[in-house]
Amino acid sequence: MQINIGILGLGTVGCGTVEVLRRNAALVAKRSGCELRVTRIATRTPHKPRPVEVDRSLISGDVEAVLRDPDIHIVAELIGGVEPARDYVLRALAAGKSVVTANKELIAKHGGEIEEAAARAGVDFRFEGSVGGGIPLVAPLRESLIGNRVTQLMGILNGTTNYILTKMTQGGADFDDVLREAQSLGYAEADPTADVDGFDTTYKLAILAGIAFGAPVSPDSIAREGIRGVGARDIEYAREMGFVIKLIALGRQAEDGEIELRVHPALLPQGHPLASVNDVFNSVLMHGDAVGDVMFYGRGAGGEPTASAVVADLVEVARDLRCGAAGRGGGRRRAEFAWKDLAAFVTRLCVRVPVADRPRNAGAHRRCFRR
Ligand code: HSE
Repeated sequence: MQINIGILGLGTVGCGTVEVLRRNAALVAKRSGCELRVTRIATRTPHKPRPVEVDRSLISGDVEAVLRDPDIHIVAELIGGVEPARDYVLRALAAGKSVVTANKELIAKHGGEIEEAAARAGVDFRFEGSVGGGIPLVAPLRESLIGNRVTQLMGILNGTTNYILTKMTQGGADFDDVLREAQSLGYAEADPTADVDGFDTTYKLAILAGIAFGAPVSPDSIAREGIRGVGARDIEYAREMGFVIKLIALGRQAEDGEIELRVHPALLPQGHPLASVNDVFNSVLMHGDAVGDVMFYGRGAGGEPTASAVVADLVEVARDLRCGAAGRGGGRRRAEFAWKDLAAFVTRLCVRVPVADRPRNAGAHRRCFRR
């Protein structure tokens, strides 16, 4: 059986996906029982040179040609951002095509609407590549850990900020230079605000927490602070005290069912399992009531790592299509939960108060906390 794929977007992840499908075509065919063939690619810049081997005759600037092609079974949305990606995905689903995406912002903000549309259309919709790049997280939560009550997930979910913090920790690198380096390596978002101010991490936490706790999570309901305020001094003092600074995503469900969600820089003891996750690597530590702690680690950004997840989703959809089971995951029932208010979080904080070294400033730090 031949499964035809239409790709929307030929950037870092689009090129990675084309390359992995080309290089591992025989392996993928053997494992899925289908030949996965890219038959159309639409991109805003069809004439741009690409770093991968791709049949130029497949590439055009025409999204409609992909959405309207009755021979395309699966659309891979690899554009990113909310619009027009949301419109394209909904139209592909309405046309009876299964959809695979790596678009975290889209899933975090409109995942519920899209899952309902897929269920109505009786097709598959998968998004493993949207969180943690190549690290399997969505499938383990939905399948391997399904028998657990997940009580906590804690992770480093943004490659760019982890790269920046690592370089700052390892030796005086300048924030802007490291950010530029991360952008040139294809890790950072076009708008660095999404990474540096923690928005990208809130999208990913919203997706994971939504699956882990079985409740729709809006990224806006997540308390958020990025890494702009972290300076060389903070990193140095943290080291002296035996800690490292990481941008942490935390989701926790208390006994009473209340859920706490936050993204912010945190001091991790140097021996903590997440403290040695460096560079562009991501990691998630989950706790399930049956399994205990489970940890996932790998490349959370970049073309081929993310393509690894996209291709896995394409293979799963192809398998479903082959045995007439498309749409099997649809119509999940989701409960409403109570979200803990930011003011109700109980946690330890480290506060650094810069004070000029003068006698009259003695005790100034105490005055900062006077009510
Ligand atoms: N900008 C993101 C990161 C890309 O740095 O992790 C992967 O989502």
